[in-house]
Amino acid sequence: MIISGKELSVKLKREMAAKVAQLKQKYGRAPHLVVILVGDDPGSQSYVRGKAKASEEVGITNTTIYKDAGISQEELLGIIGTLNADPEVDGILVQLPLPEHIDEPTIINAIAKEKDVDGFHPLNVAALWMKTRPCTVACTPQGIIRLLDEAGVELKGKRAVVIGRSQIVGLPVAKLLLDRNATVTICHSRTRDLPAVTRGAEILVVAIGRPKFVTADMVSPGTVVIDVGVNRDPETGKLCGDVDFEAVEPIASLITPVPGGVGPMTITCLMENTIECFIRSMER
Ligand code: GUN
Repeated sequence: MIISGKELSVKLKREMAAKVAQLKQKYGRAPHLVVILVGDDPGSQSYVRGKAKASEEVGITNTTIYKDAGISQEELLGIIGTLNADPEVDGILVQLPLPEHIDEPTIINAIAKEKDVDGFHPLNVAALWMKTRPCTVACTPQGIIRLLDEAGVELKGKRAVVIGRSQIVGLPVAKLLLDRNATVTICHSRTRDLPAVTRGAEILVVAIGRPKFVTADMVSPGTVVIDVGVNRDPETGKLCGDVDFEAVEPIASLITPVPGGVGPMTITCLMENTIECFIRSMER
């Protein structure tokens, strides 16, 4: 069976639109998300457009600031400082990756943690790992848990294997699975005999960014497979995940497609984070 992130996100966005309309009545304005895109990477441009479109659907005010790849770190920090101080800005998202001459951690650190809708700020990351209350949790990991919940997958006591240890997906999703009492294994490029490890998984989350990396021999029958990859298939040029969908789908009990799986849920969780930041700001 296929878990449609697209369908779930349509439902969640409809619910959020109703909530945003109420909030607008209550507080006199809609939540406001500012997205900053540096440079002209086509992938990033497409993501940023997706965020603007979802904002519109939900009733969130979206401002996208486009900056030339040559922008200095100081100028970018200046923009973030202005947005931090603006009471009518609730969420700030700097699209990654940034050009080489800009230090990403410095930029992420500069965003007010209360406006960090990505959940990437060190204090939000620390709060996630310390189980104190973070302002926000990273969108893709949150979206994955939502999908699993919606599909009725019990996490408690299950063997979950995460392939990939990125700050954006692998590490936080492992922590969220652990918080739900799954037994979590994190695999990476140096893992010995990866197929043996992944075959032991009841839930397999794949976030490595390699087209069709997970093949049928790596998956046991009945596994729940979550594919976070967004790649171009080198043969067809089409969008594809980290999992060889055609080969693995017949073996898996549940699997997310690419596109239409995790991707839409990431954007939906971004909308939720923005609404939460807005409510907290209004109630402060
Ligand atoms: N680039 C790839 N994924 C993301 C994300 O979730 N947030 C931001 N800001 N940039 C990204």
